[in-house]
Amino acid sequence: MLSHRFVRTAVETSRNNSLFLTLKAGARPYAPVAATAARGWAPGPSFGDRRSISVYGYTQAKALVYSQYGEPKDVLQLHKHSISPPSGTEVTLRLLAAPLNPADVNQIQGVYPSKPPFQTDLGTHDPSAVAGNEGAFEVLATGHNVKTLSKGDWVVMKKTGQGTWRTHAQMDESQLIKIEDKEGLTPLQISTVSVNPVTAYRMIKDFCEWDWLRSGEEWLIQNGANSGVGRAAIQLAREWGIKTLNVVRERKTPEETEVLKKELMELGATAVITESELVSGEFRNMVNEFTRKGKEPIRLALNCVGGKSATALAKCLAPGSHMVTYGAMSKQPVALPSGLLIFKNLVFDGFWVSRWGDKNPHEKENTIRDVLQLTRTGKFKDIPVDEIKWKWDTEGTELAAGVQGTLEGYRSGKGLLKYEGGD
Ligand SMILES: NC(=O)c1ccc[n+]([C@@H]2O[C@H](COP(=O)([O-])OP(=O)(O)OC[C@H]3O[C@@H](n4cnc5c(N)ncnc54)[C@H](OP(=O)(O)O)[C@@H]3O)[C@@H](O)[C@H]2O)c1
Repeated sequence: MLSHRFVRTAVETSRNNSLFLTLKAGARPYAPVAATAARGWAPGPSFGDRRSISVYGYTQAKALVYSQYGEPKDVLQLHKHSISPPSGTEVTLRLLAAPLNPADVNQIQGVYPSKPPFQTDLGTHDPSAVAGNEGAFEVLATGHNVKTLSKGDWVVMKKTGQGTWRTHAQMDESQLIKIEDKEGLTPLQISTVSVNPVTAYRMIKDFCEWDWLRSGEEWLIQNGANSGVGRAAIQLAREWGIKTLNVVRERKTPEETEVLKKELMELGATAVITESELVSGEFRNMVNEFTRKGKEPIRLALNCVGGKSATALAKCLAPGSHMVTYGAMSKQPVALPSGLLIFKNLVFDGFWVSRWGDKNPHEKENTIRDVLQLTRTGKFKDIPVDEIKWKWDTEGTELAAGVQGTLEGYRSGKGLLKYEGGD
């Protein structure tokens, strides 16, 4: 659980920059509060972009919070507060980087199944939740009973839904996964490891009994192949001797489409085709050619998109195969010809990494460790990102505007909040 011992708070909304202060019941007595309130938010010396830690050991923090559901640009607010020194098993953290995933925005819109509770823990005027589900943090300070972490360690959160879009956080040691041997790894790699690569890894491993004696002779097919999950699936499958048939949407020009195809081929894709090719009459011939007329079976489909694209994936699966739906980017339902169920005995599953991770915490840690090991050895490449630099003085409106584009198609990279505001 996040610590509740915040004593001073102020809100800088992305809409009106209002400022106020709350003293929570049960908070530690803190003499200068009244003085601070009287002169506005000025708890310590400020050094331009650098934040200050007050002489009383309180860490200043900012969090992107929302108190109602809606579009990020309308509901996200930058909330300023301070965090007391850690005690017991508490750990004070500083953000390194946090990605902006489609699910984060769906959560802010209120259309995602998991909804972090709105609370006043951080002293927000209205009960609020901190946005974001994934991120890499650095340990700044530990309580005296913390056994496994020390200052300078890098961590990720064990569970989603904890709110990662914040400059600083205080969490219990038990809620954190330490990144062992962070040498050779970057904040980007760690901040994006626990959702997309874990999803790809588990879907490939857990929904198909691959015949390892036929390494290099079995296939998986996927749409949304240039997504974070898709790129991870390409690379993991390559490592495990599974061929991949990858489907992407056409870009504006044939040249741009070729560039994207080439990018995925360089990651280890066996073949890349477009959505138009997938739903065309030619697709059957293409599959015959790729799979040596079915001698190399397509044994797993990963569906990120839904609609016609999903139907086309299902149609080329070998009898008894699985199609795993994990995304619904087209917002179209998955429609299946009955014959696929009756005569081909196909199995249609869904996968949600949040639920899987909550049920399998140790396996999740092992999966993260495996992916990071591949990353260290250069076998797992970074996803393309559009970095949003978060300095201490960055306005809430700027951050919210960066979040707003997350669900737009044809992006050049995933949004990434990179905190550069110091300790
Ligand atoms: N179930 C789980 O546990 C789980 C875990 C992780 C992610 N997900 C889901 O997986 C999906 C991808 O997530 P991500 O983080 O990998 O995404 P991402 O890196 O942000 O990429 C988004 C992908 O969606 C495609 N896309 C966007 N709008 C589309 C549309 N209208 N029709 C078809 N494709 C569209 C994009 O293709 P273009 O480049 O052509 O626009 C791109 O391939 C999301 O739905 C996300 O919620 C689910």
